[in-house]
Order: sequence, then structure tokens, then C-alpha cells
Amino acid sequence: MTTTRTSTPRHYLMCSPKHFEVSYEINPWMDVTRATDTARAVRQWENLRATYLAWGHTVDLIEPIPGLPDMVYAANGATVVDGLVYSAKFTYPERAAEGPAYQKWFADQGFVTQTAAETNEGEGDILMVGDVILGGSGFRTAVAAHAELAALTGREVVTLELVDPHYYHLDTALAVIDSDPASPLIAYYPPAFSAASQAVLAARYPDAIMASASDAVALGLNAVSDGRRVVVAPGAVDLAAQLRERGFEPFGVDTSELLKGGGGAKCCTLEIRRAQP
Ligand code: ARG
Repeated sequence: MTTTRTSTPRHYLMCSPKHFEVSYEINPWMDVTRATDTARAVRQWENLRATYLAWGHTVDLIEPIPGLPDMVYAANGATVVDGLVYSAKFTYPERAAEGPAYQKWFADQGFVTQTAAETNEGEGDILMVGDVILGGSGFRTAVAAHAELAALTGREVVTLELVDPHYYHLDTALAVIDSDPASPLIAYYPPAFSAASQAVLAARYPDAIMASASDAVALGLNAVSDGRRVVVAPGAVDLAAQLRERGFEPFGVDTSELLKGGGGAKCCTLEIRRAQP
């Protein structure tokens, strides 16, 4: 028996890959000797944006800044929980200027923003599942940022340790499929996590979808779900089949050009969560 799933309207922030290129290497996917096709990146990104719009979601845009080629990965730009904006503070100097750029965008829109004291890469490592926040650490985000975020939001932040450099951000190893507090569901790739964190995930989410190695390497876990429809990398066929079995509707959206920077659909999508009335 499959459960009926429900889409809820989402509000996203995206940034065009107009200035996308791979001019430095800060994760194992990036190779400066491999050519990038910026026009193709823009076409793929436009298609992702059009998908969200066709589904009735709101997509705001931040102006890309020349010299910040990774700014397209909007998920890293900040974390927005209950209408509160926690700024990003990047690990690598190449991306440092993105934190203030995103924070300014939110301040200009009238959001209350909090400047992070601790190193964190926004929704790349901070994912909200129901009432809980999952915090990645190990490569980019400091465990101290999890505590800072918990104090700021009053929410529980569960630390998860990443151990495989290919899955350097939590959103490359774990996807939030259902964020409804009544029926939280995640998908993840266990080998990306330390043994202790695998045990935490298994205890908290006994019904989770386990992604295969081929799902993971296609960056299939960099997926975006609205509660029913799920944008997923076309190569993540096992994951798509499991989503269908559970009553979700996976949609393959090709972001292969952006994979050269080490990111997929979710990396390009920052969710703006308003305060619940
Ligand atoms: N080149 C970027 C970096 O290494 C890719 C970021 C991908 N974003 C994400 N949310 N996983 O920082």
C-alpha cells in the first residue's frame, strides 16, 4: 500500500550560474583542468527554476557576483528557520564573500539576520526535518555552529559527522524527503557518515530510505522535495524507484554541468522558511 503524499507551497532563493566556472578546487569533484560550459549551466539551472515555478513554488533570485563562481550554490548562502536568518561563514577564503552577500539580500528583504560567530555553510550542512535540525560536520561546518544555531532557534540540532570527502556537505549525503513534523522522512547514504552518526540516524529514522552507492555518486541525495514531488538527479535510479514505492513522484532534472563544481539541485536551492503563524 502506498501512502498519499502532499505537496506544500515552498519559497526558494536561487542564484544564476552566469559566472559559473571551476577556477579553484575545494572538493574532490572540482577539477580546474576540465572545461565548464557556462551557457549549459545556465540552461540546466533555468530548467530547475522553471520546474519549481511550474509546481507553484515561489522563487526569488539574488544577483550573482563576478568572481564568486560558487554563488550558484545558494543553499550554502544562509539558513532560514522560522523566518530567522543565520548567516553563513565559509571555510574557504574563495567563498568567504558569499556569506555577507546573502546576508545583505535577506536584510534588504526585511528579514532579521543573525551574523554567525561559528563557521557554517548554511543549508549545505543544516537541514530541517520536522521539528528537528540535522547539522553536518567534519568538512565544512563546525560543531560549535550547531550549538549556536540551537541557541538561536530554540530547536534541537543533531550533530552528524561526515567522513567521505566526496560527501563533504550534509546535503550531498542526506535528503529531506518529508519535512512534515507528523511524518518526517529522510533518505541517506550510510557510508558517508561515521559509525556513531550512522547509529544516531538508524535510531531516529528507522524508516529512512537507504540510498545506493550509485545514487550517491550521481549526487542523488542532493534532492529537493516539496512533500510529494522530488527533484532528483537522473542518474539516481535506485533512489527514484524507492521514492515511487513510498508514494512520492521523483522528477529527473539534469544538473550535470553544476556537478563539476560538486553540487546538484539542492545545492542550488535555499529554502526560505517563514515563522509559523
Ligand atoms: N564548489 C562548492 C563547494 O565546494 C559546491 C557547493 C555545493 N553546495 C552544497 N550545498 N552541497 O563549496
